[in-house]
Amino acid sequence: MMPLAQMAEAVLRTADGREKTKLSHGFAAEWRAARDAGETPEIGTATPPMQPARPEKPELLSPRDVPQRKPGSPEGRIALLHAVAHIELNAVDLHWDIIARFTDIKMPIGFYDDWVKAADEESKHFNLMCDCLEALGSYYGALPAHAGMWRAAEDTADDFMGRLAVVPMVLEARGLDVTPNMIKIFKQAKATQAVEALETIYAEEVAHVAYGSKWFHFLCGRHEMDPKDVFHALVRKYFHGVLKPPFNEEKRADAGIPPDFYWPLTESA
Ligand SMILES: [Fe+2]
Ligand SMILES: [Fe+2]
Repeated sequence: MMPLAQMAEAVLRTADGREKTKLSHGFAAEWRAARDAGETPEIGTATPPMQPARPEKPELLSPRDVPQRKPGSPEGRIALLHAVAHIELNAVDLHWDIIARFTDIKMPIGFYDDWVKAADEESKHFNLMCDCLEALGSYYGALPAHAGMWRAAEDTADDFMGRLAVVPMVLEARGLDVTPNMIKIFKQAKATQAVEALETIYAEEVAHVAYGSKWFHFLCGRHEMDPKDVFHALVRKYFHGVLKPPFNEEKRADAGIPPDFYWPLTESA
């Protein structure tokens, strides 16, 4: 079996979305089989690219140039699914990137179990969104997409705790805030396939945020630091802008993110 960090690098260097997620799923299955057999596979080291390989399409535009469409229209719903597909593809790369990039920091094997599982789920989420798009006569790449998605990864490329604070505990937690409304839009349109796919994503994302919180707290404990203070400092350092309510306080609580972590960040320091 290839060391895990090298698996991660191979995913990052694969451009096509369906290919990338197929590889991701295959590696996750290998990892799980080894772990179920009681093995502790090698993590190894890798040289992940600063930017993951991506397909020719979608065209990446700055957010203000991505056309806004009414969510109530069929085109608007396709645009929404396309935007989520793009987020999920970035999430696949983000999950493998953290595995490949921070191998110098020794972590318990359970950290890798969590991240491999989440990477596999992100791969499934991407494919669910692609299936929905294709059922509606579209596909991932048919529309332009948000160019800034990898910024958080670049900003935190040298800071493991910063990565945990910004990616799972801010960005993925934001997903918990906005997904219920998205589900509502597709329910109103009686778009069953999209509703089911988004409900799967919503349920599994709670665990991803929880993994972030769990391992962030673990590292704070290792260094005897106050988690809330460190979280505030890292988000202010690496995240651009303030956090925007309304928050999904219930799901955030399920994921181990208490209100005093995010409310103070709705105001600039
Ligand atoms: Fe996801
Ligand atoms: Fe996620």
